[in-house]
Amino acid sequence: MSASSNSDGNNEMVVTPWEVKGKVDYERLIREFGTQPLTPELLAKVETRTGKLHMQIERRIFFSHRDLDTVLNLYEKGIKFVLYTGRGPSGPVHIGHLVPWIFTRHLQEKFKTRLYFQVTDDEKFIIDDDSTLPETKHWAYENALDLIALGFKPDDTFIIYDVQDMDLLYDVALEVAKRITYSTARSTFGFQDSTNIGWVFWPAIQAVPCFLHKKLTGENVPALIPAAIDQDPYWRVTRDIAQKLGYYKPAQIHCRFLPGLAAGGKMSASIPESSIFTMDPPQVVKKKIWNAFTGGKGTAAEQRKLGADPTVCSIFQYYFYLFEEDNAKLSERERKCRGGEMLCGECKVDIVAKLNKFLETHRERREKAKDTIEQYHIKRK
Ligand code: TRP
Repeated sequence: MSASSNSDGNNEMVVTPWEVKGKVDYERLIREFGTQPLTPELLAKVETRTGKLHMQIERRIFFSHRDLDTVLNLYEKGIKFVLYTGRGPSGPVHIGHLVPWIFTRHLQEKFKTRLYFQVTDDEKFIIDDDSTLPETKHWAYENALDLIALGFKPDDTFIIYDVQDMDLLYDVALEVAKRITYSTARSTFGFQDSTNIGWVFWPAIQAVPCFLHKKLTGENVPALIPAAIDQDPYWRVTRDIAQKLGYYKPAQIHCRFLPGLAAGGKMSASIPESSIFTMDPPQVVKKKIWNAFTGGKGTAAEQRKLGADPTVCSIFQYYFYLFEEDNAKLSERERKCRGGEMLCGECKVDIVAKLNKFLETHRERREKAKDTIEQYHIKRK
């Protein structure tokens, strides 16, 4: 199942909707997937609409796109867009999942636009041999709480739970499925003889929220999808057939993956120590951070003398992606790290405090979301 490269060798990059492995080369993904880099001109255009750029786009955590320029040009002409993103509920949410959702909330606020959020309990059931429908349904609910906790507005946020809401999606999914050949799907997703047939139809379902707004409101507007770049194969097949069905091609803005805490930035659901989950209690957070891979030296004396390397440090990435919004403070931290002025212990103490403060607030909001979750359900609108 390889959309990007093969999985030979240890550090060989693999980026597919089901697997992200090895050292990710984002420039190469832009070339191989055929997406566009975010240029300074395009960022300037975004800035005229949003005011000060969100740090995730300023720092190129969102680094690539398709048709973002088109969507902004249409917006200037008075044609709005809707936002669309989603989550495959295979287990608990970690803070890497929050990265694109935080940016999506920013876009929703600045462009005052609707978000469709697809929770794919069907997809995770089909793809993961060991999962059951009650399990993926359970995680769908739990994961939606994490989304709501980030502050999305109920009036403008439409959560879709695929299995429950399939009656809303099915006619559009059929229109899509009819126009994608098996040959295209197989070459895009790498289906094998042993692939179950649910998987073959599945891409049609992920395409539906790109087009659903017209069915619900009569308005034909494009969708803009903020998501990690591994989802791009879905959008390639969807873009191919959009205009045949009378819709705009969905636009994308792609983000990087928050590196994990293990050496080489590895993060994997099967290695819980490599990421911080939103439900991790403070002591667990502390322990994970304490064991995290950094760019430090073997001894404190050596590090004071030679300095450390923030570019390979998983903790520095946490500041960069999420926990240090102030550019000047981030540079100062980097300078002190390189110069051996600040050692890893100090940096870790700081991040544990920031993480636990963030998670405490997040969990309070998440708890409150249990009372409001129905207001977000697409069927209640
Ligand atoms: N396939 C995605 C996953 O496994 C879930 C998803 C559905 C999604 N629609 C999306 C993700 C739109 C991003 C954008 O996580």
